[in-house]
Amino acid sequence: MAIRKLDDIDVAGKRTLVRVDFNVPLRDGAISDPTRILAALPTIRYLIEADARVILMSHLGRPKGEVKPEFTLEPVAARLAELLDRDVIFTDDCVGYGVRKLASEIRDGELMLLENLRFHKGETSNDASFAERLAAPAEVYVNDAFGTLHRAHASTAGVPALVEDRGAGLLVQREVRALGGLLERPDRPFVAILGGAKVSDKIAVFDHLMSRVDGFVVGGAMAYTFMVALEQPVGESRVERDKVWQAKRILERAAKRGVQIHLPSDHVVSTAIDGSAPAEVVEVIPDGKLGVDVGPATVAQFGKILSGARTILWNGPMGIFEVEGFDAGTRGVAEAVAGADAFSAVGGGDSAAALEQMGLADRVTHVSTGGGASLQFLSGGELPGLVALED
Ligand code: 3PG
Repeated sequence: MAIRKLDDIDVAGKRTLVRVDFNVPLRDGAISDPTRILAALPTIRYLIEADARVILMSHLGRPKGEVKPEFTLEPVAARLAELLDRDVIFTDDCVGYGVRKLASEIRDGELMLLENLRFHKGETSNDASFAERLAAPAEVYVNDAFGTLHRAHASTAGVPALVEDRGAGLLVQREVRALGGLLERPDRPFVAILGGAKVSDKIAVFDHLMSRVDGFVVGGAMAYTFMVALEQPVGESRVERDKVWQAKRILERAAKRGVQIHLPSDHVVSTAIDGSAPAEVVEVIPDGKLGVDVGPATVAQFGKILSGARTILWNGPMGIFEVEGFDAGTRGVAEAVAGADAFSAVGGGDSAAALEQMGLADRVTHVSTGGGASLQFLSGGELPGLVALED
């Protein structure tokens, strides 16, 4: 795929429209995790230093085409100004006369952030005339929104088709290099840890990685669907009954290829998922109880496997880690990933958040800023935002 990088594009003095992913979590109107803003800074700094006239655009949340004040990007503009120690011009819309006027007045090295793209329905429907209005001020288009590359929206697919001078930002380059490297030339053994609630979200990842990994480590509620496929008792644990056949198919494919699928050997069980009832560790999940985390023997078993790995991919928590007392499995795996002498990549919002919470994020090789986007990439699926950048 021929996609230009930032240094292949002459941005000096040019109005450079940059799609970033500032879809940050907010708590009571304040940014609770600025990771995605920090991740966009290298590209923004590069463009400022290269004397580009930088116009940033992003979505925040899912306001569904309506102007909803709780989804304004204003707090992001303020945080950005603080982080860069410079003015950020914030516009109250992302299209229209006001934006065009400000964009025509912006000087080299100055910075603008447009209001939430999803305040317009045309963004998610990739409406042609909305894309045209959005593209109006742009002489150059850069996509640095890795987390949104799996969306064929106006800002990711419509606009780049209208701007000839276009390319990938530094974050997109870094993500594609790290995740692409995993798929193309992993050091062996390569172990993929897949967790989270639903097998259905990860079937394509199992399928695509099957020919690439030496083993899968499976935790989280999705392990119970695999256990049902193996006719093991799961009590009242969350199971996707309609996906048991898929789990069986994955187990069979893995057995044929000699790929190990490691399932938990013990479990933390309770009668409530919110921590309001007592919990205990069991090897066999009894009737009336449900699994909420992997147990300590499993953590040790998974830790041993990971300590021998040279490449590790981790996507999805091992239990309900948001609940105190049900987080030991995810913690244990996070520590094992951080401690392994391996190229380690962590994808997906939840596992990245867990790692961040535990202060271990800087001990893994790559933490992806994309949830859905990294899953789609690892499934071998096309990313419309990348395709749109091709020359
Ligand atoms: C994400 O948070 O995964 C991206 O910003 C995409 O958001 P979306 O799922 O609302 O399109």
